Amino acid sequence: MPSDLSSFNQKLTPTYHTTVYPAINPTRPELSQAGKTVLITGASAGIGYHIAKSFVEAKADKVIILGRRADKIKAAAETLSAESQGTKVIGLSCDVGSPTAVAELWGRLAGEGTRIDVLVLNAANTGVVKPLLEQGTNAVWESYDFNVRAQFDMTERFYKQELGAGRKKYLVHVSTGAVHTFENTAPMPTYSMTKHAGALTLQLLASYEIPAKDMQVIIYHPGAIFTEAAERAGFTTETLPWEDVSLPGGFAVWAATPEAEHIHGRFVWAAWDVDELKSGDLGKRLKEDPYFLKFGVNGLTG
Ligand SMILES: NC(=O)c1ccc[n+]([C@@H]2O[C@H](COP(=O)([O-])OP(=O)(O)OC[C@H]3O[C@@H](n4cnc5c(N)ncnc54)[C@H](OP(=O)(O)O)[C@@H]3O)[C@@H](O)[C@H]2O)c1
Repeated sequence: MPSDLSSFNQKLTPTYHTTVYPAINPTRPELSQAGKTVLITGASAGIGYHIAKSFVEAKADKVIILGRRADKIKAAAETLSAESQGTKVIGLSCDVGSPTAVAELWGRLAGEGTRIDVLVLNAANTGVVKPLLEQGTNAVWESYDFNVRAQFDMTERFYKQELGAGRKKYLVHVSTGAVHTFENTAPMPTYSMTKHAGALTLQLLASYEIPAKDMQVIIYHPGAIFTEAAERAGFTTETLPWEDVSLPGGFAVWAATPEAEHIHGRFVWAAWDVDELKSGDLGKRLKEDPYFLKFGVNGLTG
């Protein structure tokens, strides 16, 4: 593990949050998801589950959660339903990495007249902790297949839905600090490079093809959250200053509202204070600099 942990908590805004706070609290009336149907990938456990919980708290009409293990996703949907006050929670077993399963999913949604208003792309392939050349091309490509092709497949189908075609859509992508803090994740190179490529795909779509009024795209690092995936990557409860899972949950709901429109197509951390990001020098830079908080080459603009 790296000895310098400073890049694990990069403080762009003076206030750095480690748990949900009032501006992104899902129960805030301005963040209400009433009338919306939300689809979340990888939501039987970890961050995805808590994102689903936050959309339930924000009173979405329907929350559809996806996971591969049928028993896990069913149990997660039952727990969320028991906590919900009117939100319908549906758990579907679906491997987002399977083109056939994804085609069937969207066919089923269209067939039953379900229009997705908010898509949260959360499930990821975390790759393995091994140098690239030890992994070889096939293992590296497998990660690309999930973190780039599968994410784009979901995005394209979401964007091209025929139902409610004129209504604004919200796409929220759970990215990772590993897309820029390369030294920290050097032992997991496929994770960094494929999550970077997946996020860049969405950045390009948002910057040059789809205006926020049609589909608002927000790409965010959820924070360091101790989950099964973190454990698999070799972290322990002691390794990092872990953040609370309510933080990425509340942030996802905020990102699916017009309040986040000014960061359409940009990459941010859930820990950064959303009000401070909008005001002062940071707010000015977001208005004036189209490359700010976007992927590119250090030292160059554009
Ligand atoms: N944890 C962190 O500190 C951290 C930090 C930065 C970024 N992130 C990002 O946060 C996201 C979630 O990470 P996490 O730590 O919560 O992961 P996790 O603990 O491994 O949870 C993953 C969830 O996704 C589901 N899933 C995995 N593969 C799937 C597939 N092919 N199709 C459908 N569902 C699938 C899993 O259920 P099944 O196994 O049953 O499918 C589970 O519900 C990822 O995008 C990750 O890159 C996490």
